[in-house]
Amino acid sequence: MKKVIVTLSLGVLIPLMGVSQTTLGPGTTGTSLSVAGLPHNFSSQTWNPYQNVGLGGQICQPCHTPHNSNFAQVTEAPLWNHTLTTASFQMYVGTGSFGLNGGGYGLTAPDGTSKLCLSCHDGSVALGAFGGQTGSTTMTGYDNGNADLGTDLRNDHPVSFVYDSVIAGGVHTPTYIYKLFDGTSSGKAVSKLLDINGKVQCTSCHGPHSNSKGYQLSMSNQNSALCLACHKK
Ligand code: HEC
Ligand code: HEC
Ligand code: HEC
Ligand code: HEC
Repeated sequence: MKKVIVTLSLGVLIPLMGVSQTTLGPGTTGTSLSVAGLPHNFSSQTWNPYQNVGLGGQICQPCHTPHNSNFAQVTEAPLWNHTLTTASFQMYVGTGSFGLNGGGYGLTAPDGTSKLCLSCHDGSVALGAFGGQTGSTTMTGYDNGNADLGTDLRNDHPVSFVYDSVIAGGVHTPTYIYKLFDGTSSGKAVSKLLDINGKVQCTSCHGPHSNSKGYQLSMSNQNSALCLACHKK
């Protein structure tokens, strides 16, 4: 019975996330952005020229800058450089009695790191919109548009909500020490997967910098270990 539930959750989520595993791959895997070919190593992308000073082709620059960052607007990442999305989003609602113990999600807008990710991944802001440039290439249509989540997030795992002991019913408490794919202890509590405000965000499941597990996942999802880190199934 337990296995059936897990399979159902995955079966529901994966098609809704717009991910087709037959046509997509995790690309080159590596433990840091210095490995060329990682999805977030943009050094050879044509949209990354930074033409005004001829310092194009950098790795960190589309997201971080040493000077003149968006520090007043962005506190979730240091020295943020990329233009933020101003789009309106449709958030995950859940169906029937599902969702935050039947209370409904009541999510309003992405915040925290999710908003930073969506500032490229919603397709509304050009990838090259950083450091005073406007850019023209967006995620829409880029590389088949597979990484374009759009602004309708009803079909994506809920993000930007607080994960605390109140919602812990179908999920473990934030202090639960979750297991790795091979059943051994990670030694880390679920709270480590949450952002500084205790919220589930894109960065609960993905890291911006490393791709050692494919799809930039924060841990291996073999045997659905990532899902089971939080979900009791
Ligand atoms: C695609 C966007 C992106 C790129 C490219 C990127 N970062 Fe980040 N970085 C982020 C985000 C988002 C965060 C905050 C969220 C987090 O760490 O989970 C962050 C956090 C950080 C932090 C603070 C937390 C930590 O992980 O230590 C440092 C330092 C950092 N980045 C350095 C770099 C450097 C150096 C590079 C280039 C080699 C780089 N980043 C490239 C998006 C990016
Ligand atoms: C500067 C723009 C930018 C930002 C900011 C950004 N990304 Fe990306 N991301 C990209 C591009 C471009 C790709 C490559 C898309 C492709 O090749 O289809 C990508 C690819 C990915 C992939 C797919 C990896 C794979 O193996 O297929 C994931 C997952 C991802 N990003 C997650 C995130 C998350 C999570 C954040 C926020 C922490 C984030 N991105 C922030 C531009 C960005
Ligand atoms: C609950 C965990 C979870 C959350 C939260 C999450 N993702 Fe993912 N994401 C995954 C997994 C797992 C995959 C790998 C593909 C799969 O298993 O379906 C993935 C795949 C992706 C891909 C690759 C899609 C492709 O077709 O190449 C992108 C891009 C991505 N996520 C971006 C994001 C962004 C941006 C956010 C925040 C708005 C986010 N993810 C939130 C778990 C998550
Ligand atoms: C960082 C913790 C965390 C991770 C990792 C995570 N989830 Fe979730 N997920 C939650 C929380 C918290 C909720 C909202 C509470 C609830 O609905 O039980 C939720 C909601 C959901 C829902 C919607 C339930 C509903 O009632 O509407 C599904 C389905 C789901 N997650 C599947 C997954 C899958 C599949 C994975 C792995 C790819 C995953 N989750 C990874 C924390 C997580």
